[in-house]
Amino acid sequence: MASYDLVVIGTGPGGYVCAVRAAQLGMKVAVVEKNATLGGTCLNVGCMPSKALLHASEMFEEAAHSFAKMGVSVAAPKLDLPSMMNFKQQGIDGNVRGVDFLMKKNKIDVLKGSGKILGAGKVEVSADGKAQTVETKNIVIATGSDIARLKGIEIDEKRIVSSTGALSLEKVPERLLIIGAGVIGLELGSVWKRLGAEVMVVEFLDRILPGMDGEIAKQFQRILEKQGFAFKLGTKVTAVDTSGKTLLAKVEPAAGGPSETIEADVVLVSIGRVPYTEGLGLKEAGVALDNRGRVQIDPHFATTVKGIYAIGDVVAGPMLAHKAEDEGVAVAEIIAGQAGHVNYDVIPAVVYTTPEVSSVGKAEEELKQAGIAYTVGKFPFTANGRSKVNQTTEGFVKILADAKTDRVLGVHIIGREAGEMIHEAAVLMEFGGSAEDLARTCHAHPTRSEAIKEAALAVGKRAIHM
Ligand code: FAD
Ligand code: NAI
Repeated sequence: MASYDLVVIGTGPGGYVCAVRAAQLGMKVAVVEKNATLGGTCLNVGCMPSKALLHASEMFEEAAHSFAKMGVSVAAPKLDLPSMMNFKQQGIDGNVRGVDFLMKKNKIDVLKGSGKILGAGKVEVSADGKAQTVETKNIVIATGSDIARLKGIEIDEKRIVSSTGALSLEKVPERLLIIGAGVIGLELGSVWKRLGAEVMVVEFLDRILPGMDGEIAKQFQRILEKQGFAFKLGTKVTAVDTSGKTLLAKVEPAAGGPSETIEADVVLVSIGRVPYTEGLGLKEAGVALDNRGRVQIDPHFATTVKGIYAIGDVVAGPMLAHKAEDEGVAVAEIIAGQAGHVNYDVIPAVVYTTPEVSSVGKAEEELKQAGIAYTVGKFPFTANGRSKVNQTTEGFVKILADAKTDRVLGVHIIGREAGEMIHEAAVLMEFGGSAEDLARTCHAHPTRSEAIKEAALAVGKRAIHM
């Protein structure tokens, strides 16, 4: 029987990164993966394919609407959807091959098949009706998450799709109805809107992007509406009639009331994701779940069974690839006897639309609720030189700092490249820095990042360009 120091179940960003770090620390490591390719949700049907389509569709949109005003005259762009899907697939393949390479480079065994925990120290791997058991000192569960479903609305991945189907539609739907105004709905809605679909988003709550700073979400909604998105907030879809040529969605107020019917060609169900623990044998092994079906862990990623740990989407916390990766590194270090740690107060979040939305730290509503006195500094991209010359002035930077100590507690950006810009705020916050620190840091000119410096100056009411 093969024997390891560590067996990681699942090779998403949590699992494969954990395996690499453990191998770096001298452990003999194997990963178990039931999917045909490594890389998990993120590389195969998540972050990577969605970003490829967001990029390609943005270029399509720019060629149609932005080139002419810069004096670049091209014929009206034509959509070749199969080629765009091919571009997406090349991106996926390249990244998946990258993970294969990392496994080889770090001498990590890849065990293809479904992993089941037979108890502390034993994992069964089955594929094609055959099973093998491996012995291991430690197990990390990194099995990720799955689509959340709506009762009575069956996903066929053709007309009623999850994010997976929405990444591979064979033609642009005339009318796309999206259930859920979260990250997936707004990103994939943007893709198909740019490619020509009419997009309507039905959201249960009275706002989009729950969890994000409210002021940012409000402005973002306005921008998306200007782009042609239609929103029905405080509303739920109760049924979808699939019997006819077009889909008929029954929609009613979230609190109940008279219903109406919305016609659509494709319905995207994007109401969140749920932890994935199917077939892992957790109950029999004694690994406890929390009240939301996530693997229960202590602050050191240890489950209720000694030697079994869990990370990523399958445990509590934001369902983000970089959070899973950082937990992967931390748990490998803890198993090796080091002090692995993740700072959950500084995990950036990005919505990769145009403009992008990014944030790190607390939203204004969270500070209010916690009774923390804060000051706000804001700076609009309309007053930022680089944004002006590029004529991409939508959005603003908002910095929330502790009223007494000036320590930065949250940074929120809506604007082009906001996803790249957020990291200077993350580094500052990791070091416990103040708005004054940020304001006194020289920023290259002309850059969009100068808007961050100006927002930091605005915390002390001394922005220069406003
Ligand atoms: P996963 O990536 O889900 O990987 C789990 C792996 O475990 C899978 O490969 C699965 O096959 C395998 N597995 C499960 N059970 C078993 C078993 N019993 N035996 C063997 N293998 C098993 N996050 C971001 O940070 N940025 C983004 O831009 C972003 N975009 C997204 C877009 C979409 C459309 C979706 C759906 C998600 C997106 N996410 C994004 C979220 C991100 O994909 C997840 O947070 C991340 O993949 C979680 O990583 P993980 O390692 O925990 O699990
Ligand atoms: P989400 O949690 O972001 O949004 C789901 C939305 O659906 C919420 O606004 C919720 O109020 C709404 N909703 C729930 N039930 C509903 C109902 N019955 N009717 C109408 N609306 C309803 O989930 P989403 O967008 O599915 O994404 C799943 C996860 O994937 C997220 O947790 C996110 O972290 C991750 N992700 C991250 C991305 C990124 O970092 N850029 C991109 C895509 C996904």
